[in-house]
Amino acid sequence: MIPETVLKQIQDRLDIAEVVGGYVPLKRAGRHFKGLCPFHSEKTPSFMVNPTKQIFHCFGCGEGGDVIAFVMKYERLEFPEAVRALGARAGVEIPTVRGAAASRPSDTTVLMQALEFATAFFQRALQQPAGAEARVYLERRGVSVESVQTLRLGWAPESWEALMTAAQAGGIAPATLERIGLVVPRDSGAGWYDRFRGRVIFPVWDPKGKVVGFGGRVLDDSQPKYMNSPETEIYTKSRIVYGLHLAAPAIREQDCVAIVEGYLDFLIPYQLGVRHLVASMGTSLTPDQIQLLRRYTKRVVMVYDGDYAGELATLRGLDLLLGEGMQVRIAELPVGEDPDSAARRLGAEGFGQLLTGAKDLFLYKLDILRRRHDPTTAEGKVTICEHLLPTIKRVPNAVQRSEYVRALAEVLRVSEAALWTEIGRVKLEGTARWQPAASAPVSQAVSAERLLLGLVMDDVRYLTQVQAAEVLELCQDLAVQEAFTALMAAAEAGEEAVQAVLQQLKHGETASIVAQAMMLSEPIEETGRAVEDCLRRIHKNSQQRRLVELQGKIRSAEAAGDDEEAAALIGAVNQLVKLKA
Ligand code: CTP
Ligand code: MN
Repeated sequence: MIPETVLKQIQDRLDIAEVVGGYVPLKRAGRHFKGLCPFHSEKTPSFMVNPTKQIFHCFGCGEGGDVIAFVMKYERLEFPEAVRALGARAGVEIPTVRGAAASRPSDTTVLMQALEFATAFFQRALQQPAGAEARVYLERRGVSVESVQTLRLGWAPESWEALMTAAQAGGIAPATLERIGLVVPRDSGAGWYDRFRGRVIFPVWDPKGKVVGFGGRVLDDSQPKYMNSPETEIYTKSRIVYGLHLAAPAIREQDCVAIVEGYLDFLIPYQLGVRHLVASMGTSLTPDQIQLLRRYTKRVVMVYDGDYAGELATLRGLDLLLGEGMQVRIAELPVGEDPDSAARRLGAEGFGQLLTGAKDLFLYKLDILRRRHDPTTAEGKVTICEHLLPTIKRVPNAVQRSEYVRALAEVLRVSEAALWTEIGRVKLEGTARWQPAASAPVSQAVSAERLLLGLVMDDVRYLTQVQAAEVLELCQDLAVQEAFTALMAAAEAGEEAVQAVLQQLKHGETASIVAQAMMLSEPIEETGRAVEDCLRRIHKNSQQRRLVELQGKIRSAEAAGDDEEAAALIGAVNQLVKLKA
């Protein structure tokens, strides 16, 4: 926990325009600063820094918040890390936790140090005489000496306890190695043995570049070809993709990530200079991995060999990516080739072209399907639709959806309207995790709520009025509702608590929405009138929603022939309309 006073001190000493200006070229535009948004790609600036309110907000992608939020988002730091970085800059000392916890390295540190020790041990072993065979193997696979260094490749000696012995000499207990999956307890119950033996070692990193686990490949055809660290306290496989810490700058620069399967499929193209890629390590992508990549780019190219790419089951898995608002394309390799061999054959440029030429997932699927099923027969049309309508339904962007519908209607020679009707009937499995970004066009209802929040943030005295108007439950925007709830709770505890919440809202989870709210209220002068307008609009909108709901119910009651129910509902509508007048 970092004391509120320290946060305040940092914020007082730093100017957001100056800090952000260090990352993004900014130009003055009236009372604001403007620049190209670092969080999405754009050609005309919609990224604004507001020096009065000390916040930033992008009108393009909706990102926003205070200076802490900016550093967290830009540098991808956790809150305490961002505060520490800014504290150093502002010359404010961050008090560290005192007591026993401070003098003893945390558990995580112990495990991280052991992982680091093992990485270095494997690296050294590769360079020793016993590592000669492995070095020859890597050379034969075209791995350069530089790549060996960058990727920290190593060699696990042919021994049951080489690592364990070395670690013990270095003060690392076997029990610690067990916790990071490097030794396995013997069946007899007494003692341990090294998990990785006689294998080339590929360290696996977290996005910050800390080693969290390992993969090991045999030098010949024996099985299993790869052995991997198990899941541990530190290594959650569903949250890691291989190579991200190295590829991140290129992914951001290209605004695109290519996803390959294997360690060498990453290594060889990367070595040749195609750097915007990560490896999934042989499994299909998990929602967490998708979320992770999504922070860097929304454009994904899946690189598959020809056999695999044709598998509709494989492609169906990608609908998940679409549901997360990603743009997905497929790069198809010749049958029997993987990215490793293709990159070596084609060189960086050829391989790069293969990625650029990747086909849109939907159109790719459509191509496969029209070859397999005759789109001129009714049966063929139905089958093709069965495969593609769920895909379309998952696409969050309405423009994109209608493009797909148009393409499909053309191929099948059916009306777009018929397809839309069918899409409406499709039930998607699982819950779509995708939620509209802050920048998605917000409804009128939501914009009134956000404006109200902005006005209250400018002058918290309006909070009592908001409370009296009982609009909290009527808010459609959960972020706004949460912010008001926190503020109201703080108001009971006193002015200081309110200030703390105001502070926190600007870099908390809903920072982007809060910053947008603060921008909305910026040009308003008659704030009292504006607050009243907002409150009225929120009530009106809620009545409107209730009206629509009732009308729907009346229709179903009438359709069901339930006259009594219909009459009661009509009475309720009349009440509501009177109220509105
Ligand atoms: N993999 C694994 N365990 C296996 C096989 C594969 O964990 N028994 C993972 C590895 O991360 C591997 C990836 O799946 O890199 C892709 O597997 P595959 O295509 O079989 O291996 P390649 O990476 O092509 O390995 P190589 O080129 O060395 O044969
Ligand atoms: Mn391979």
